Amino acid sequence: MNELELLHSGKVREMYVVDERHLLMVASDRISAFDVVFNEPIPDKGRVLSAMTVWWADYLKSIAPTHLVSSNPVDFPEAAKRPDWAGRALLVRRAEMLPLECIVRGYITGSAWKEYQSSGTMHGTPLPEGLAEAQQLPEPVFTPSTKATEGHDINISYDEAIEIVGVELAEKARSISINAYRLASEHAAKNGVIIADTKFELGVVDGELVIADELLTPDSSRFWPAENWTPGVTPVSLDKQPVRDATEATGWDKSPPPPPLAEETIRATRDRYVEAYERITGESFDNWIGNS
Ligand SMILES: Nc1ncnc2c1ncn2[C@@H]1O[C@H](COP(=O)(O)OP(=O)(O)OP(=O)(O)O)[C@@H](O)[C@H]1O
Ligand SMILES: [Mg+2]
Repeated sequence: MNELELLHSGKVREMYVVDERHLLMVASDRISAFDVVFNEPIPDKGRVLSAMTVWWADYLKSIAPTHLVSSNPVDFPEAAKRPDWAGRALLVRRAEMLPLECIVRGYITGSAWKEYQSSGTMHGTPLPEGLAEAQQLPEPVFTPSTKATEGHDINISYDEAIEIVGVELAEKARSISINAYRLASEHAAKNGVIIADTKFELGVVDGELVIADELLTPDSSRFWPAENWTPGVTPVSLDKQPVRDATEATGWDKSPPPPPLAEETIRATRDRYVEAYERITGESFDNWIGNS
């Protein structure tokens, strides 16, 4: 059987070439925290990421088309019909990706919080004084970053995004990203989950701007259980918290190599990913592809 050509291998996903117009996006069970990939896989994590991407692609279809073609292995080429890929592989349309990460922030945390503390700005734009960590922003803000091929992405202003992709694409990318964030966060709020921020990756397919990559997954977003949220306190994440807590407790300095993950940490993290999916979508993960 012919094997698919590997186009790209990231921290978490592999991209394979299906044909000139299609790719296969395969989410592994690898987990990274503090930008370091751990040695132990988290069972079912890749399938959770794919299930969420598919669910959101459908939920957000009134906002923008996505690159998604199918998650059903019957639609895959023969070489992609591997049992170990069922539920984790997505057939997508190949896009000309914008060289931007389209981040939307509804709450101030992470790198934006760091910047605000040192200069009172977020991606270069001044914010009101006196915000606390994890506080909700007056309204969601499009805060793009560059897509670094090496090292960390760099937060940029909207004007810098215009310089990179032009005003027309920047406008469209901003409006798709903000509208998708608004609709998604209203939905998540009904289920007691705050979407603090999220990162979309957009690309052009046949002259049309579409949402590509993964959509509103725990790896591309910060999900906070609403019941634990207090402005001024660093929030607990719905998903990677067991890994963060267990590894920080060892005194690890967060540079590679990562410490090993205990059985218990792996199981707790797996359960959190599944819980994030079920709580946000209202679906049972048992019904997702690849569960026998
Ligand atoms: N429909 C698509 N067409 C073309 N490229 C895509 C499409 N969807 C996503 N991509 C690109 O495929 C890659 C997905 O890889 P992945 O997210 O695993 O790695 P990465 O973003 O390069 O690195 P990492 O996420 O590990 O920092 C990204 O570069 C993303 O921009
Ligand atoms: Mg990526």
